[in-house]
Amino acid sequence: MSYEIRLHDLSKIYPDGTVALGGVSFICPRSACTTLVGPSGSGKTTILKIISGLLDASGGTVSFDDRVMTHLPPEKRNIGMVFQSYALFPNMTVLENVEFGLLVRKVSAADRRRRALEALESVQIAPLAQRRIRQLSGGQQQRVALARAIVFQPDILLLDEPLSALDAKIRQELRGELAASLRQFKITAVYVTHDQEEAMALGDQVVVMDHGKIMQIGTPFEVYARPANEFVARFIGTANLYDVEIQRSANAHFHIRLGFSEVSVAEDTFRQRWPGVAGGSAQLMCRPQDVSIAELSNAHARIRISSLLFLGDRIRITGETENGKTMRFEAHNTTKISVGDVVPIRLDLDCIHIIPVAD
Ligand SMILES: Nc1ncnc2c1ncn2[C@@H]1O[C@H](COP(=O)(O)OP(=O)(O)O)[C@@H](O)[C@H]1O
Ligand SMILES: [Mg+2]
Repeated sequence: MSYEIRLHDLSKIYPDGTVALGGVSFICPRSACTTLVGPSGSGKTTILKIISGLLDASGGTVSFDDRVMTHLPPEKRNIGMVFQSYALFPNMTVLENVEFGLLVRKVSAADRRRRALEALESVQIAPLAQRRIRQLSGGQQQRVALARAIVFQPDILLLDEPLSALDAKIRQELRGELAASLRQFKITAVYVTHDQEEAMALGDQVVVMDHGKIMQIGTPFEVYARPANEFVARFIGTANLYDVEIQRSANAHFHIRLGFSEVSVAEDTFRQRWPGVAGGSAQLMCRPQDVSIAELSNAHARIRISSLLFLGDRIRITGETENGKTMRFEAHNTTKISVGDVVPIRLDLDCIHIIPVAD
């Protein structure tokens, strides 16, 4: 069985007075992966522990579908867990590690072997079954930890920064595999990370947290391209953000004044994309890849280049607008450009985003 996880108005105050969660509500859809992302200390692990039953909330409820779980002990929740520190037994074999939990649950030897091998199969490390944990790479250990979590056929899988101890390259590789595994398991998963790329790559739904509160819930595309507020815009990816004044004109357009430029968007498009923005003060966000070097004749602004960062496939450029605002953008790695140059740029108006000013 796979359940929907419903969190309603969860709060947590630790005994020392730390407010870790301040009224958090969201639903993790059945058989999908929800990622919780936010800076260190934003309350992500606290939420996982409350879902697992390892920690009591100070207020609010956790339900799996309609069943309120609040007073059910962890071992009755049928949850599989994977943590950053895998807590594997280094001197036991891979197979023994995966079988261990089944042994504790008094599953027969034959069943243990069969189920453990199946689990190892599903994370593609069955050939390593007889190796000892200390003979495995970090990535392989991570797979053992995942096999151990799913061998019970849990209803729910909770993962707390399972890749954060690995180096960047293997982390990226495993990210893709983990995404594929989670899809294959069709299990309701909650995946905690402080890495926004990982959150977007793995999550069907992304919950962005800060200081024990939800900043936004949405698809990876929504939190990236349509951030609800400045925090999300800055935390997820790199954002150029400018204070703007917006005015509706007589010819059914909205004029967006940036200080160093002015762009206009047809009224229909504007209302459809930003139904909550009426005009007046707001912020405009554009991502670095949505700004490009243009012909002077159709440029939105002129940027003086202050630094260049070669990223291999492209160059990350930082420059200043005529009124001293910073703009980050990108160009193909063959672009001839130097610090001090002044280049005309154009914003991709299909990709800009307007953020209402906070009340
Ligand atoms: N056992 C504890 N006692 C007191 N404060 C805690 C405890 N565990 C976590 N905290 C605090 O609660 C907040 C949220 O922590 P946590 O859920 O671990 O955040 P995250 O996983 O997002 O880094 C932080 O301010 C943290 O310092
Ligand atoms: Mg944590």
